[in-house]
Amino acid sequence: MRNTIAVAKGDGIGPEIMDAVINIFDAAAVPLDFKFVDMGKHIFEQGNSTGMTLDAKNTIENLGILFKGPMETPKGKGMKSLNVTARKVWNTYANKRTFISLNGVDTVFSKAGIPIDITIVRENIEDTYGGIEHMLTPDVALCRRFITRPGSLQVHKYAFDMARKKGARKVTCGHKANIMKLTDGLFLECFYEVAKDYPEIEVNDVIVDDLAMKLVVRPTDFDVVVLTNLQGDIISDLCAGLVGGLGFAPSANIGDNISIFEAVHGTAPDITGMNIANPTSLLLSGIMMLRHLGHFSQATQIENALLYTLEQGAHTGDFGSKQTPSLSTTQFAQEIINNLGNIPAKGAKTNIMPNQEVYTSPALPTQNKMTYSSPPETTEIIGADFFIESIEQPKQIAAKIDTLLGTDFALSTMSNRGTQVYPTGSVFTECINQFRVRLEKTGNQQLSQTDILNLSAKVAQQFKICSIEWLMAYDGKKAYSLAQGQ
Ligand code: NAI
Repeated sequence: MRNTIAVAKGDGIGPEIMDAVINIFDAAAVPLDFKFVDMGKHIFEQGNSTGMTLDAKNTIENLGILFKGPMETPKGKGMKSLNVTARKVWNTYANKRTFISLNGVDTVFSKAGIPIDITIVRENIEDTYGGIEHMLTPDVALCRRFITRPGSLQVHKYAFDMARKKGARKVTCGHKANIMKLTDGLFLECFYEVAKDYPEIEVNDVIVDDLAMKLVVRPTDFDVVVLTNLQGDIISDLCAGLVGGLGFAPSANIGDNISIFEAVHGTAPDITGMNIANPTSLLLSGIMMLRHLGHFSQATQIENALLYTLEQGAHTGDFGSKQTPSLSTTQFAQEIINNLGNIPAKGAKTNIMPNQEVYTSPALPTQNKMTYSSPPETTEIIGADFFIESIEQPKQIAAKIDTLLGTDFALSTMSNRGTQVYPTGSVFTECINQFRVRLEKTGNQQLSQTDILNLSAKVAQQFKICSIEWLMAYDGKKAYSLAQGQ
């Protein structure tokens, strides 16, 4: 079956590498038709703050697949990254990046005979990438980090399904749940919840800093690794380094309806228009896309041609032996075309499955999908954290707060940058001009939202409130963290 996909060539080197990849696809007679869409820098420059035309948006939403070159978001004009927006708006919740040693691409590991084969699955739409940021005071910036149960379950399920399909032996969860007990804790809890449905797969979890070290020291211990968005972003670049750099890292942003396939690197403005860019990352992403669409034999044929070409020592200027002259982008692509049908001596892809009709374009939803867990049996308001601006000493602030409170609330703790400074603390704790004041109910009374709003009005008589966070308990369990030192 033929598929029609949306293609955005992108900015900078995007058109050069996309043309090279499409030439290879055409030579391999991949059953794809391309509908080119307008996205990127020039659309921003026309005053369209989304970076894509309405026609592009509609085409992508109808076709469900976007193959894209790198894109530039104009800096310092308040525009949101088009790449991040596209992933979030279309709910491409899992970012899959595969890192495999390639013959002809020398690294310290290839020289030591250590093969790398790691797949990173990075949660793609939550975490700090919401970009919800505020200056609480002129000195204090705050970024909200969303980790949700539905989002975590979705990405873990994708990672385990993918691991099962590829016959992976192990799935590892990278996290920082020892410090971020609620956010990373939830991500980790969901990991083990999903893992129960995949008993044949070995599972473990590793704290992300330890993971970074272990990936470098013993990369063969890892198979599939699933991480939250920011940690996954950093760890996947580390893995790119293990196999020779970003030029050899493909990326798929997978959603239930829309998926985006793109190179990991950027627009490379320093080499734009010189016909020297390496198209390998985009080609590998295209190969992932072919498999996603069920065109297995073409994917394998092209991948073998690429591996054979690399094995022969052909290379663009950014890698390979300095003893052999580097090829231009078009020459390198032509070399791969010439090698279609050739099989590399090492690492040949033999898992040629018959082509399958695995892909159908998405049905257009009529409303936003809501995903949520069943509500807890009891929900209780315990109090609130008031983030206030002040340059007074903790004891002075506490004394003022005390005068505002009646008998229903008490000040349980005050912290500065997350470290408790009242009722106990150290004079060595340096403070900035923003404190968190935790006011909790004193008895068993049921609090309403209005009680907290009335309390806010009282606090506001003495302090500038920067932000308020409700303190909740669900099914009797406190749903907030303690201050450091509390
Ligand atoms: P970059 O990845 O474009 O370039 C970093 C270095 O790698 C440069 O020296 C470049 O010449 C080289 N390089 C990158 N791709 C190459 C290739 N295929 N062949 C040979 N050399 C290559 O990163 P940079 O400079 O930080 O970002 C440039 C622009 O790209 C920025 O506007 C950024 O926002 C955008 N960007 C877009 C991405 C996307 O569309 N997914 C991802 C990353 C950056």
